[in-house]
Formats: sequence, structure tokens, C-alpha cells
Amino acid sequence: MTETTDNYKRLAGEHAALSVQSGMVIGLGAGSTAIFATQFIAALLRGGERRNITGYATSKSVWQEAVRLGIPMLTEDMPTAIDLTIDGADEVDPQLNLIKGGGGALLREKIVAQASHREIIVIDESKMSSRIGTQHAVPIEVLQYGWQSQARFLATLGAEITVRRYADGSHFRTDQDNLILDCRFEPIRDPAALARQLSERAGIVEHGLFLGLADDVIIAGPTGIRHLRRAGTP
Ligand code: A5P
Repeated sequence: MTETTDNYKRLAGEHAALSVQSGMVIGLGAGSTAIFATQFIAALLRGGERRNITGYATSKSVWQEAVRLGIPMLTEDMPTAIDLTIDGADEVDPQLNLIKGGGGALLREKIVAQASHREIIVIDESKMSSRIGTQHAVPIEVLQYGWQSQARFLATLGAEITVRRYADGSHFRTDQDNLILDCRFEPIRDPAALARQLSERAGIVEHGLFLGLADDVIIAGPTGIRHLRRAGTP
């Protein structure tokens, strides 16, 4: 990542964090962009500009980092309502369809997104594309049990599959101890149809297509900040 990209990520994250109001329960997203929002929320709390904020983490490592930053955190029991979540994404199209899960946290991220009144996505502009799937594979979380069968099924859908691994060659494990299959579909012509096929398959725990979940996308680039809103979002 270049220093410039890092600056854009910071700009997007901090801009989104300004939407956090005192008293809110905030979903804290995973990844190198959302962390800037989390750090800024912690700074707002420390400076007394916001009070009585509680965080809810989308991954174990986000939880640890938020605690380290001094944000009061809810434990893994889901809060009744999450007011606002700020999260990153791997690829975003102009209809605000997303690919997420580059960090492997897609299941918890989707649970939190679906439980949130508002989901703000923060990205640098390199993540925008006219069709999702053009730049990024779709991460798919599968049970270890029978995973090769899911890989064969995904191949019949046209996916070129890479089993995600750590540097030492062992299988990457999600927070739920599942595997990730990174599936390159090339530009996805019909994301909703693909999402349905993936959701219907036993053994696929969750997929990284986030459709109709983002309310806002904050994009930072050389010309500053752009703000896309889902149609119908005030
Ligand atoms: C984590 O599983 C992901 O969904 C991240 O939100 C996504 O990969 C974006 O991460 P970066 O902000 O690090 O690119």
C-alpha cells in the first residue's frame, strides 16, 4: 500500500466517523480502512467530543484493537440494535453492491451489517468498479467438512478457486474456524442470482457478496471525498 492510498483510507475512515453521535452503539468493521474510523472514534471519546458510545466488533482482532484504544465494547452477545456500522470493502459498484471478506471476517461483517440501522462503507477510490468481480475474487466461507465438494460446486458456477492459506501453507481459518475459498468469477453479470445460488448450497456458511446492505459509501481519492447514497437513503 502506498502512503497516498493510506492517506485516502484515513480520509474516508475519519470522514465516516464524524457521523457517530453520542449514545450510539457502533459496529466496528475490519480491515485497514475501517481501522481509521475506529481510531478516530476513540479519539473523539478521549477528547470528550462524543460520550457514551459502545462498540460492537466484526472480528476478534477488531475487538482486541478497540479495547486497546479504550472504546467500551459489547461482548459477543448481539446488542438489540446497532445504530451505525462503519466497515471497509474490497470492491464496490455504482449500485453499492459490494465484495467483502478480504480479511476473512465476512460472516460477522454481514451479521453486523444486517443488524445495523445504517451501514457506511469506507474505501479509497481504487475499490470502485463498474461491475463487482472485475478486480476482486469473492471470498466464500465454507465448513471444513466436505469442503472439496463445495469447491467442485463453485467450479460448476464458473469460479476459479484458490483455497486461502497462511504464509506457512496451512489453511486460513476464520473466527468460526472455517475455510475461505477465494472465487474469481470475473465481472459478475447478475450478483443477485449468484448470491442466491451460493446461499442455497449446504456447506457454504456465507459469501462475500453484500447486496443492498450499504446505505452510504465514502470514497476518498485525489480530488477529495465523494459520498454515494443508496437510492431512498435520506
Ligand atoms: C474484512 O473481512 C474485509 O471485508 C474488509 O472490510 C475488506 O477486505 C477491506 O479491507 P481493507 O480496508 O483493508 O482494504
